Amino acid sequence: MPTSRSLRVELYPLLSSIANATDLISPILHDHHKKVSFLAAMLGRTLQLPKAEVQQLAMAGAVHDIGGLSIRRRLETFEFEMIEPDRHALPGYVLLSSFPPFAEIANLVRFHHVYWQQGRGLEYGGEAVSPLSHLLHLADRVAIQIDPRQEILNQKEEIIRRIVAASGEMFIPEQVEAFREAAEKEAFWFDLVSPEVDKIIQKRLPLDDLVLDCEELPGLAELFRKVIDFRSRFTATHSSGVAAAGVALAAKSGFDEKGTDKMLLAGLLHDVGKLVVPAEILAKHAPLTSSDFAVIRKHPYYSAWILRDIEGFAEISQWAALHHERLDGSGYPYRPPTAELPDGARILAVADTFTALTEDRPYRCAMTGPGTAQVMLGMAAQHKLDHDYVALLHDHLEEFDHLRQTAQAAADLEHQRFLADCRLHAPDRDAEEYCPTGRGED
Ligand SMILES: [Fe+2]
Ligand SMILES: [Fe+2]
Ligand SMILES: [Fe+2]
Repeated sequence: MPTSRSLRVELYPLLSSIANATDLISPILHDHHKKVSFLAAMLGRTLQLPKAEVQQLAMAGAVHDIGGLSIRRRLETFEFEMIEPDRHALPGYVLLSSFPPFAEIANLVRFHHVYWQQGRGLEYGGEAVSPLSHLLHLADRVAIQIDPRQEILNQKEEIIRRIVAASGEMFIPEQVEAFREAAEKEAFWFDLVSPEVDKIIQKRLPLDDLVLDCEELPGLAELFRKVIDFRSRFTATHSSGVAAAGVALAAKSGFDEKGTDKMLLAGLLHDVGKLVVPAEILAKHAPLTSSDFAVIRKHPYYSAWILRDIEGFAEISQWAALHHERLDGSGYPYRPPTAELPDGARILAVADTFTALTEDRPYRCAMTGPGTAQVMLGMAAQHKLDHDYVALLHDHLEEFDHLRQTAQAAADLEHQRFLADCRLHAPDRDAEEYCPTGRGED
């Protein structure tokens, strides 16, 4: 990306804020990814593992349940002896491994529920399982036992007892010993349940050398786009369409290369706040109720919350925050005065509306390109969408619609490949077990 060649983005805070968003879908999941990241990294340090491995543990812990695409998949991970962990670990592995710099983290995530079984857990399905995956498992099983409503020191003995009792069968004994050693200090537990546990990790570990160059950002944005969109088959290609339409509109209206690069990222990530919305709502097979909307209306707010601190992302975050605003103040959630709506947000709103109208939803069918343009001209006339950008879309409808369709066809292929890859590793399981279908069973 030629935006600013020197831009380097720190990976850990970015991954951590994405995963934190996925923990907001239920109070039961409160700070789960942060806790596992802390535990895995601290136990890695207690075991005096090399710096690179401790960093991998922190990173893998921060995203380990990212493949739990629905609330049901996430909540079942809170059973101490959970059954069928592949239903979330496999999609997590497949998604993370689609971004080459995350190949090692992906492997740790893939096997993060494998039992040690007195050494038989050195492999699973004929593949080697890293001891780091086992340590991630232990960290995870500690974290799920914490009840945020109770004093942590009143819980620690029972947590330790349960982990020690499973030494050898579930966990590597040497790793259990490291946990016992770390768990002796009260401060270990206070850190673990601190609302600032992610900041504690960043203070204590050298993580700031884990950076992405700006050239790698679109690849990472593509990974997050999949995590966001693959949570429902109805939205599986949505952000790709928004990015393509947004970039075309921005280029045609005079944005320079730096501006269109930002629009690409904004299009891919504008709905990242949907990670706080249960997939069950996104895939619901009926018109959404007012209580569903109460949840959905949070998503642009959380898009901004997730993106706000990323270096170089100020405008991208602002556009994402404002993509559901309307010029007449009828949008959400900030309702700024019309004059405060930047061009980037106006373009993103047009690209988002255009793409959404051309997509099926559980409760309505897709519209065609020309029909869509008519609806949008009506919205511009009502002072909801920016008239100039809607007119530009209308003037170049065939070209822009072709770009959108091409991008969404490619994203559809990727979605099919994702489901096929999950099936490849677990052929006896239906792909719908990974992705809510909207038929009401998930
Ligand atoms: Fe898990
Ligand atoms: Fe977990
Ligand atoms: Fe949205």
